[in-house]
Amino acid sequence: MEELVTSAVMVEIDRDVAAFWRSALESGDTLQELITAFEPAIERLRELEQDAPSSVLEHGFRTLVLNRTRRNGILAPGASFTHNGEGGRGLLSRRYPETLASRLAAIQEHSNKLIFLESDGLKVLPVLLQGWGDRAAVFLDPPYTAKGGKRAGSRLYDHSNIDHVALFAMLADYNANFLMTYDAAPEIVDLIKQHDFNAVILFMKNGHHNQMREIVITSDPLFA
Ligand SMILES: C[S@@+](CC[C@H](N)C(=O)[O-])C[C@H]1O[C@@H](n2cnc3c(N)ncnc32)[C@H](O)[C@@H]1O
Repeated sequence: MEELVTSAVMVEIDRDVAAFWRSALESGDTLQELITAFEPAIERLRELEQDAPSSVLEHGFRTLVLNRTRRNGILAPGASFTHNGEGGRGLLSRRYPETLASRLAAIQEHSNKLIFLESDGLKVLPVLLQGWGDRAAVFLDPPYTAKGGKRAGSRLYDHSNIDHVALFAMLADYNANFLMTYDAAPEIVDLIKQHDFNAVILFMKNGHHNQMREIVITSDPLFA
C-alpha cells in the first residue's frame, strides 16, 4: 500500500484466517456490505460461532466478526467475548464498522498485487526464496512459542507449533533477505547467535498494558 513492493505473497495456515483473506481479496465489496450492516447482538454472535459457514465469504465474515468482538481477538474455540471493551463500548469496541469497511476497500484496491496462499509457510518458503536474492524480502511473524518464552502464541492461535530450529536453518541455508519478529526467549537468542543473524530488542505493550520485550531479527543490520 505504500508502494514499497510491486507484489506480495501472503501465507497463512489457519483455515479461519485464510477464509478472511480469500473473501477480502475475492469478494471485498460484499464483505464490506456485510460488515457495515452487521449488528453485534450477543445472540447473533453466538449463532455465528456455532453455525458452520456455507461459503468462503460467510467463513471470512465470521472470522472478521469474531476477531473483532472476542477478547484479544482470539479465534480459538471457546474464547470469550469482550465485556467492557476498548473505551467501554462493549461488543462494538473492536469493531468500528466504518474503519473496517475502509480497510477492506484499501485491501481490495491492491488485490491485483496480493497473492494469498492457504498453506504451511515452512513448506512454501524454500520455493519462494529460490533464486530471488535481494530482489525479494521476507517478513515472518511466527507465533511466540519458543520454550523459554511465556508461550503466548499457544493461547492465541490454533496453529502455534513451529519448528523454530528448522525455520532459522532454512533462512540461513537460503541466505534469505528477511525481517522476523520473535519473543525474547533464551532459545531464540541462542539461534540468532548460532546463525550470526542481526537482532534488536524492542519494547511493546501486550493486551494487559504490560511492557514486554520483543526481538526483531534480520539478515542485514537494521542500524549502521
Ligand atoms: C503472530 S501471528 C501473525 C499475525 C500477522 N502478522 C497479522 O498481522 O495478522 C502468527 C500466525 O502464524 C500462523 N501460522 C502458524 N504456523 C504457520 C505455518 N506453518 N504456516 C503459515 N502460517 C502459520 C498462525 O495461524 C497465526 O495466524
